[in-house]
Amino acid sequence: MPSSALGYGDPRGRAELREVLAGYLRRVRAAAADPERTVVCSGYAQGLGLALRALAGTGVRTVAYEDPGSPATVSSAASRAGMSAVPVRVDEHGIDVRALAATGARAVVVTPAHQWPTGVSLAPERRLALIEWARARDAVIVEDDYDAEFRYDRVPVGALQGLAADRVISLGTVSKSLAPALRIGWMLCPAALTGAVVEQKRLSDRGSPALDQLALATLIESGRFDRHLRRMRTTYSARRSALVAALAEHAPEAGVTGLAAGFHAVAHLAGPTDERALVAAARARSVGLYGMSACRTAPEPEPVRLVLGFGNVGERAISEGIAAVGDLLRGR
Ligand SMILES: Cc1ncc(COP(=O)(O)O)c(C=O)c1O
Repeated sequence: MPSSALGYGDPRGRAELREVLAGYLRRVRAAAADPERTVVCSGYAQGLGLALRALAGTGVRTVAYEDPGSPATVSSAASRAGMSAVPVRVDEHGIDVRALAATGARAVVVTPAHQWPTGVSLAPERRLALIEWARARDAVIVEDDYDAEFRYDRVPVGALQGLAADRVISLGTVSKSLAPALRIGWMLCPAALTGAVVEQKRLSDRGSPALDQLALATLIESGRFDRHLRRMRTTYSARRSALVAALAEHAPEAGVTGLAAGFHAVAHLAGPTDERALVAAARARSVGLYGMSACRTAPEPEPVRLVLGFGNVGERAISEGIAAVGDLLRGR
């Protein structure tokens, strides 16, 4: 590494990494990625804050977010940017674009490839309607592309940013593909917003750590990142299959939804259940269950939905865990 690389450098990040990332995102996410408009940041968490503060600077006052979704994350980032945040319902086709239009918001945070936490993908007609909404309202879509490398049944649907690079800020992260502790993410910015985002990044921390960026660039360029993803897809896919099989065996009335993707599936319990009591009873048996209510702005209506993570649990532990709470899931 030359000594010139030890200075503050470009707040967008190291040119080597932006170049490699743009190529990777064009190839893997069908993104319209340009290294000049790529900003390396400290994960989605920082990227969201930078995006909202940049948008606030252009006069955006309200940001919408998916419900169920990540209400606390988006609301707190919005309030730190001086914006208000409004929830918009998500159904089996993704965010309800008509309901979004009724809010008057001029920005929205969405997870189009794999909705967190319902696990659906944004339906093709909704993708187009969302982009039309953004064009008609002079609005911006913040795309959280957090786990799109992990689709187990087919090639993942491309990034929304690839369809409307002028209207979408796309945020990516290595938190799922490598590890959250690395704190590396990226933003693909529309030309009109790049300067404002870069200024926010400069004000925030003057740029992300250079050594980490160069290491990631080398990992991707060498082909080892792709190899790692291929291997991990096999591992996670087997864990998901173990979860689906265990539910079929121990709670056959429960329906499972969500794409064969990412690190979570949704179980729909059959009968009326008290979500809090169920989660507490499972906890007493050392099994961590998570209710959909934690991702809602209002209590979850009956019947209960559970968001079941399988990312960092082995197949055997998944099978044993579901077996241990089978009677609770069956409501008996
Ligand atoms: C919906 C969603 N988006 C993004 C992230 C990644 O955030 P970060 O890159 O800040 O670790 C996560 C991590 O769990 C997530 O659940």
